[in-house]
Amino acid sequence: MKGIVLAAGSGTRLYPSTIAVTKQLLPVYDKPMVYYPISVLMLAGIKDILIITTPDDAENFNKLLGNGSHFGVNFSYKIQNAPNGIAEALILGEDFIQNEPCALILGDNIFYGPGFTGLLKEATKNANEGHATIFAHQVKNPERFGIVEFDKHNNAKSIEEKPIRPKTNFAVTGLYFYDKNASKYAKTLTPSKRGELEITDLNNVYLKKNILKVETLGRGFTWLDTGLPKALLDAGAYIRTIEENQGIKIACLEEVALRKGFLNKTQLNKILKDYPDNDYYNYAKEIVNSWQN
Ligand code: G1P
Repeated sequence: MKGIVLAAGSGTRLYPSTIAVTKQLLPVYDKPMVYYPISVLMLAGIKDILIITTPDDAENFNKLLGNGSHFGVNFSYKIQNAPNGIAEALILGEDFIQNEPCALILGDNIFYGPGFTGLLKEATKNANEGHATIFAHQVKNPERFGIVEFDKHNNAKSIEEKPIRPKTNFAVTGLYFYDKNASKYAKTLTPSKRGELEITDLNNVYLKKNILKVETLGRGFTWLDTGLPKALLDAGAYIRTIEENQGIKIACLEEVALRKGFLNKTQLNKILKDYPDNDYYNYAKEIVNSWQN
């Protein structure tokens, strides 16, 4: 199982904040935004992760994430030269995917909620068995998203990209699990009216073949999009509230590496001693120090 984080896109809705720094490197409270989607792939047990960036930002991503060894994963990098759409990630990633199942996540999506690891496990199993899985979540402004309609058995009936008259308010979130054929199907797509290879079109390929599962994330689940200044601030405040209240951290990648067994206590102690004393790293150090296994 391979993983792709799509961290390209121009981020113009956040200009001027994203003129010099790409959106996915901006902080969401106490860590860069891209840590959140990376943590999702790691929680799914994925170690081979391709980070797709714009040409301008590749160097900064490399500075932040390197080869991934400090999180017990392997990062590779690829450049998307122009915002040609989410589905292009699966074409750019073809050599990396090597005919394996693949999870794709958008670099600005934050997921947090109960039972998530179980859902990821199920989606991985589906992908290995030739099915795609997408995740739907209720939203207030459905015209801004890919929208899924269900039949009376709760199976997906249609998916429409940014419909003027949305049939439901269930948005397709930016996390997609595909079987080994995703690159092949992505290559059959043609650009939409906005000039992009739409992920909704790819999902519709799977829907037509009857191999698409739609998992609904319940109302206790949080899915945050961070594309607007207000949304970015809200996301930071949300993360801060949960973290302060519970004394945990969301998307602390060193902690995820430890819990998933990607790195052991000795390895992480060695890695963490080079980082400064601050809230994030002190938390990571404490988690590692108190680890019993
Ligand atoms: C994209 C997808 C859309 C999906 C959304 C989730 O929208 O096209 O189907 O619901 O991500 O964040 P975009 O970011 O291109 O507006």
